[in-house]
Amino acid sequence: MTTSKGRYYSGLQQATAIANDSLSLRRTCNAIAKVIAKSMGMTGCRVLLLNPKNDFLTTIGSFGLSDLYLRKGPLAATKSLPEVLEGQIAIVSHAPSDERVQHPQIAESQHVVTIIASPIMRGQDVIGQVRVYSRQERSLSDLDEEFLRTIGHVCSVVLERAELSQFKERVKRTCATAPKQILPTEMPAASLKPVEFAHESEAEFANLLDFYQIEWLYEPRSFPLAWNGEGVSQMFTPDFYLPELDMYVELTTMKQDLITSKNRKVRKLRELYPDINVRLVTRKDFARLLAKYGYGPLGDAKVEGVGRILYSQTQIKRRVRSLARRVSKDYAGQRIVMIGVLKGVMCFLSDLMQHISIPVKVDYMDISHYGGHGDIVKITRDLDCSITDEHVLMVEDIVDTGMTLNYVLAHLASHRPASLHVCSLLDRKERRLANVQLDYVGFEIPDEFVVGYGLDYQGEYRNLPFIGVLRQE
Ligand code: IMP
Ligand code: MG
Repeated sequence: MTTSKGRYYSGLQQATAIANDSLSLRRTCNAIAKVIAKSMGMTGCRVLLLNPKNDFLTTIGSFGLSDLYLRKGPLAATKSLPEVLEGQIAIVSHAPSDERVQHPQIAESQHVVTIIASPIMRGQDVIGQVRVYSRQERSLSDLDEEFLRTIGHVCSVVLERAELSQFKERVKRTCATAPKQILPTEMPAASLKPVEFAHESEAEFANLLDFYQIEWLYEPRSFPLAWNGEGVSQMFTPDFYLPELDMYVELTTMKQDLITSKNRKVRKLRELYPDINVRLVTRKDFARLLAKYGYGPLGDAKVEGVGRILYSQTQIKRRVRSLARRVSKDYAGQRIVMIGVLKGVMCFLSDLMQHISIPVKVDYMDISHYGGHGDIVKITRDLDCSITDEHVLMVEDIVDTGMTLNYVLAHLASHRPASLHVCSLLDRKERRLANVQLDYVGFEIPDEFVVGYGLDYQGEYRNLPFIGVLRQE
């Protein structure tokens, strides 16, 4: 008894110290999750935040859980141990067979036997949960309960602090941009997001993901890479995990010599954990990612026209015709709606449709572009015609990271078309982040920025009849 009391005391001590550190919300919650799991002798833990409508729980920090668990994304709060919403502590003593568990097959594959869920309260309201997972069967003592309740209070304070700092940030921004505007007076917990990162580039990357509404977790898991005797001698913690894409992303925007060692770690990770999908995003990749939106170090780089022609007018013509023939053949006997996102696709779409021999309708959409922080992608021009029960062919100029297409396809799919396929003139596979399926591809292109035939650099070069590579300083 005294030993577990001692362990809990020291756990609380650590957790309060972490809470009082000025780390980002994710880092704080990851660290607290670790303390909770260790103090209770459990395998894993996560800290979950309840949205204001009380229907979803999102992981904001975790420790010791496999990505199978993390990948489940938000949990439906009313389906998963609903008694916790009433402020009670819930215990599942055999997860694979308990019907209150939303993903029993995952619990089973991860050998999770016991799950304990405890509310995070603010006054009378439940605002989140702490969940702990164990591979052994275990019961819940009064002391366990006391610890979970107390750690819940610590989490509550952590969340409140994060909200407060974000609220201040928002007020500051509002004041800076619109001094006469009335200040926001409410603090919706829904917009609670981690604010601080180890590097500026990580924050920028998170902003970009937020913009495209791609869910992410910051440093949710560490991978042991080397061992000596009993202990782990080398660990690797990728910066991001993107649950929907089931992908880890490591940003290396620092010095070249560090990249080499990062590369080695990533290679080792792939060797040791072949099922793990990890992407290294280098400083150059990242600069390019931002430059596309007119940002970052490359954003205002000098360009001196086109350095090299990649595909001539004739080559493009020939390829477009052959794509059109394939589309006409595949959809023979049907009619299709071709949809393009403005403006890059205009040359391609107009040439493509002229060679299609089945009935076609054409429609356009436009979406907002990434502009820094705080905003999310919006459809600024939606379709004119209904696509419900229609065969839709989404036409793209170029698929790069795939984030635009990923978003647009989700939007189109929500209108329940009869079918939905993608035709892209260019495919830059190398830089893909979102795993979108392309059914028709004109050309696979190397990792270089291209212009012409509708594609622009800061609004210019669209009128070139060929596709060329920019000459950049
Ligand atoms: P993604 O979301 O990263 O796949 O980017 C797709 C969009 O970025 C395309 O529809 C283009 O508008 C733009 N884009 C990506 N790469 C290039 C390029 O090399 N030249 C011009 N525009 C590009
Ligand atoms: Mg486009």
